[in-house]
This record gives sequence, structure tokens and C-alpha cells, in this order.
Amino acid sequence: MESVAAGSPSVGASLSSSSSTVLQLLLPMVVLVYVVVQTVVRRRMNTCTAPLPPGPMPWPVVGNLPEMLLSCKPAFRWIHHVMERTGTGIACVKLGGVHMQDTNFASRPLTFASETFSRGYMAAIMAPYGDQWRKMRRVLTSEIVCPSRHKWLHDKRADEANNLTRYVYNLAGAGSGGAVVDVRHVARHYCGNVVRRLVFGTRYFGEPQADGGPGPLEVQHVDAAFASLGLVYAFCVSDYLPWLLGLDLDGHQKMIREANEMMTRLPGVLIDDRWRQWKSGEKQGLEDLLDVLITLEDAEAKPVLTIEEVKALSQDITLVAMDNPSNAVEWALAEMVNSPETLKKAGEEIDGVVGRDRLVQESDIPRLNYLKACIREAFRLHPVVPFNVPHVALADATVAGYHIPRGSHVILSRIGLGRNPAVWDDPLCFDPDRHVPADPTADVTLTENDLRFISFSTGRRSCIAASLGTAMSVMLFAGSRHDIFMARPLVLHAEPRLPSHFYSATSM
Ligand code: HEM
Repeated sequence: MESVAAGSPSVGASLSSSSSTVLQLLLPMVVLVYVVVQTVVRRRMNTCTAPLPPGPMPWPVVGNLPEMLLSCKPAFRWIHHVMERTGTGIACVKLGGVHMQDTNFASRPLTFASETFSRGYMAAIMAPYGDQWRKMRRVLTSEIVCPSRHKWLHDKRADEANNLTRYVYNLAGAGSGGAVVDVRHVARHYCGNVVRRLVFGTRYFGEPQADGGPGPLEVQHVDAAFASLGLVYAFCVSDYLPWLLGLDLDGHQKMIREANEMMTRLPGVLIDDRWRQWKSGEKQGLEDLLDVLITLEDAEAKPVLTIEEVKALSQDITLVAMDNPSNAVEWALAEMVNSPETLKKAGEEIDGVVGRDRLVQESDIPRLNYLKACIREAFRLHPVVPFNVPHVALADATVAGYHIPRGSHVILSRIGLGRNPAVWDDPLCFDPDRHVPADPTADVTLTENDLRFISFSTGRRSCIAASLGTAMSVMLFAGSRHDIFMARPLVLHAEPRLPSHFYSATSM
């Protein structure tokens, strides 16, 4: 098995050295947490002599669940707390009949939420390792995010970037001196717009809005996506004590069903109709990704995907494209408000590369190194979630001298990696220059293959959409240059950079 820890040579190195005095002193933040869940505790008669990673002593049957629940902390805080208390960069926690520790491999855990949001593991992100995952990942990489498709969809993305600047311009008072803008709202809806435009060919499920902003149905769609993202790998007691499933003691299952209902209703109607149009011969000619998915054929001209698979993949794409770009840009701007020097540098770069007689375009991205460095820094310091999407160990392994049993769930701490003092000088300081190479001709990218922090991750389950993710993040960032103050969610005082005719209407 290819180790997802392609970053692991360096990860491994930092783990091995994590016992050093320096790290023990500097470990108020967790360097690295892999949480491994083993659903069946197997007492093995094997030859493995490596110990499990250190962790709190588990109770019979329920493991460390009582301690975690009684701590009244969110699960991720409790895990980080355990790591800190144990003074370790790799820990093993047992939840129910489950071990949590540190490694990374190519499957995903089976949970009530992931099963619901993936229509029974029909799509790619949440599917366990196997044929269905392989099929869907292949469809995505060869048909949805491949370079030719990325080019094909360029004008739709450009239109959404223009709409973003127009919407911000309108929110900022349309040239009348600027106004307060809710950056989170703008950023999330830009991502929602791009997804709907690429997948369904439309910015609006409902009535188009004159100012370029979302209507009630688009607000509903984006809210449902974020609700789903918040629930998908949230701690749910019945995932660890399956005999509680159905009782829904913590109300988690009800919330998941409701979020999923909201998430699927509007796209579902559209997909049903489009499916009918293609199957009846009413529609011809590919216009968006939904058309691509519906019309995919294998070598014998048989449809590759069922309508259920089309729905599941559309939902996958919607979920993955929303949170990372919007969160990174909101944080980058928030940090830059407190660091006028970085804001000035970013503005100077845009003026130097783009000038003042047009808007930023995707073709500028290779030359916007400082902007990309700011986004990288936001990914490092302010990940959208504390842990990476969980992985499952497919075979026994040894990591940093510790035994990781097959079937273990593996969680990598994004916070621990990005703020690791052994890797980053002054890790809590927002300093984009740390990502700017000495060679001015070198390209800054948002990918981080050495896992010194997590952006698109690496290995078999890594993100497949670095080009699309980069384009969305940079265009969102570049389209929101502001003079500023901050609140929660981030609100900024926005003023147009260019004359008003640059912000005129775009198509819907
Ligand atoms: C800035 C934007 C994005 C970032 C930072 C990002 C990051 C990530 C990360 C961290 C993972 C988990 C990797 C792991 O398990 O180790 C992931 C998985 C994935 N991402 Fe992205 N993503 C972005 C945008 C997108 C977009 C727009 C798509 C659209 C198709 C996408 C498709 C996927 C898929 C399909 C997976 C699951 C791969 C698998 O499990 O085999 N991502 N992404």
C-alpha cells in the first residue's frame, strides 16, 4: 500500500524527534495527531513488538468515551488536550471498542453521517477504499477536473469572478464612498455560485438577483452545505457504540437527515429534469458538468453513471468546493487587517501585475506570488477544520516506532502540523513572506506535498482539484481588496479599486 504519509518521511522525522526536550517544551500545541479507531479490538498472536502510541487508560467496553464526554469540550479540543497532557506528537485514544492514534492510509471510516451524505458511499470523498471509490475518483479526475475540462469551464468561472466584484461593489454602496461588507457571506456565496455555475450551469436555483447576490434559495443551498460539512465527521456517540444507533440520544442523526434533505432537494429537482431531457432526446450538446456526468459512456457506449451516482457526485463536488477557499480568504483578509504592511504588499502586487485598467484574471495567477503566499499562510495558520478528513488503516503498520493496527481510524491534526514549532519559526505569526522563494522566477503554489501543513493533502486520498481550488481561492481573494475593520464574522469596509464600468452586469 502506498503510504498516504508521503509526507510521512518528514512527518515521521518530526514524530521521532518529538520526544526531544525542545518539542516536549514546545508542545502546548499538538505537533501531529493521528487518531486511529479500531472497531474490533483484536488481541493478536502476531510478531509485532511495537507498542501502541501513548494515550489515556481506557475503561472496559466504553474506552475513553466517558472522559471525553465529561470534559464538556468539543472532541477535537479534548484530543489536543490529551496530546498536550501526554506530551506526545502521536497518541492513541480508545473510543468504545476503538483505538485512536496516529498513521495515515487509504480508506475512510463508516459513520452515520458519511453514509447519509454520500447516498450509501456512492461517490468519492467519503467512500471506503474499494471499487466504487476507484470508479468515482476516476470519473472526477478524468472528466471533471482534468486540464481540458478546466479550460472548457474557464468562462463560467470568469463570469463568477466578475459577478463577485460587482456584488461587492454593490454592497459597498456602488461607488458612493464604500460600506461595511460581510466577507464570510460574500466568500461563501461566491463559492456557491461557482459550484452551481460549473455543475448545474446556473448561478441561481431561484430568481436572479439584480445586485449579483444570492436569493433565498441560494442562501438555503449554501447554508445546507455548511451545515452538512459541520456534521459530516463531527463526533457522534453511536458511531463508536453502534448499539445506540436509532436511539439518536444526542439528536445528531436528526440534524444529519435534515441537513441532507436541504442539501439534496433543490439540486435533485434539477438533476431529475436534466436526466429526463437527455434520456428523451430533448437535450443535446454539453453545457455544464451535469451534462458531462449524465452522458458519460464506457467503451461499449453504455452509461457509466446511474442517476443516483450523478446525484451523489454532484453533492460531493458541492461539499468539497465550499469551505476551504472561503475560509482561507476570510482569514487571510482578517490577518491582513492587522498587518497593514501585508495588505499594502498585496495591493502593490495586484497593481504591478494587473494594473489599474482591468480586473484580475485567472491568467494572472502564476504572477501573483505574494497573494498565493497569503493564502498559503491562511491554510497553515487557520485551517477550516482542526483535523484532516479521517483515513482508515488498511493494514497493520508501524509509524514512528508505534504499532498501528489494521482498521484503525486515522486523523491528522491540521492545527498541529501548521503550527508545529519544530517546522515553523514563530508559528503563530501571520507571515506570508515565509512562503515566498528567494528566486523571484519560482512559482508559489497552494499545494504542500511535504505535509508541513495541509492544503490539498497528499497520497491516494488527496484532493484531486488543486487547479480548481487554487483558481477559486485566488480569484476570490483578488476580487476582495478592501480598506478595513474587523468583527465576527469578518466585516470589512470595501471601496472599489477601479472605475464603476468595470463592475457592470455579468450574465447569470
Ligand atoms: C481550495 C480548495 C480545496 C482544498 C484546500 C481542498 C482540500 C482537500 C483535502 C484536505 C482533502 C482531504 C485529503 C485527505 O483525505 O488526505 C480533499 C479531498 C478531496 N477533494 Fe478537495 N479541496 C479543495 C477543493 C476541491 C474542489 C473544488 C473539488 C472538486 C471536485 C475537490 C475534490 C476533492 C475530492 C473528490 C476529495 C476526496 C478524494 C478521495 O477521498 O479520494 N476539492 N480536498
